[in-house]
Amino acid sequence: MSTNNISSAVINRLPRYYRFLADLLREGVDRISSSKLSQRMGVTASQIRQDLNNFGGFGLQGYGYNVKFLHEAIGKILGLDTAHNMIIIGAGNLGRALANYADFENLGFFIISLFDSNPELEGTSVRGIPVRRMEGLADFIKENHVDIALLCLPKSYAIETARMLVRYGIKAIWNFAHIDLELYLPSDVLVENVHLSESIMRLSCKMARKDESERPDAENE
Ligand code: NAI
Repeated sequence: MSTNNISSAVINRLPRYYRFLADLLREGVDRISSSKLSQRMGVTASQIRQDLNNFGGFGLQGYGYNVKFLHEAIGKILGLDTAHNMIIIGAGNLGRALANYADFENLGFFIISLFDSNPELEGTSVRGIPVRRMEGLADFIKENHVDIALLCLPKSYAIETARMLVRYGIKAIWNFAHIDLELYLPSDVLVENVHLSESIMRLSCKMARKDESERPDAENE
């Protein structure tokens, strides 16, 4: 099933479908209509039908969606039918918090090592996952099948470290440093930036707009 022609807006919605379907499976629901799914997810039924039709459609008229089948099919599109090994660069607060989050493993993402430039961290571990020195990074990548590198180090080191990872053969980076990393890397390297501060700014913006619309004189402006 090719996803090359699917809009990024649809792709961006797939993890949410996957999460809701996983909840339904846990509840023992084996089929659901697009209208029921739409009520649960707070999106229109036509949006759901349109989104899922992109992939050939998984629903049957009068039957709805087979939850297990749809969950598996979307999981496949999301690449979750394959296990992925990951390494974390930067074993500070964030790197350790991510390594401590065991739920990634349930999705098939396995953190196999952390790396840090601070020699004092060598030999420590997080949830049994070892922290290694940066000096061993090239050999580790050569000897282990590493699919994804997580960048959890200061922004000032992010570009040079990412370029080094690419030289060592890394093709996918989950970047937490506050920089749009893809601008500095070859176009075949896949980058997903995560910026929690952008999320809190969006919330803050909504709060500011709400306050403004609730001001008694707002209607007269
Ligand atoms: P931290 O200071 O606790 O940890 C950073 C770690 O990186 C330290 O252990 C340090 O020794 C290591 N390090 C520094 N330079 C390195 C290098 N060249 N190679 C390998 N390791 C190196 O910082 P924290 O709080 O864990 O944050 C890490 C990064 O994540 C920062 O850039 C921060 O701004 C960012 N961040 C991003 C968030 C997001 O939503 N994207 C949320 C929180 C932090």
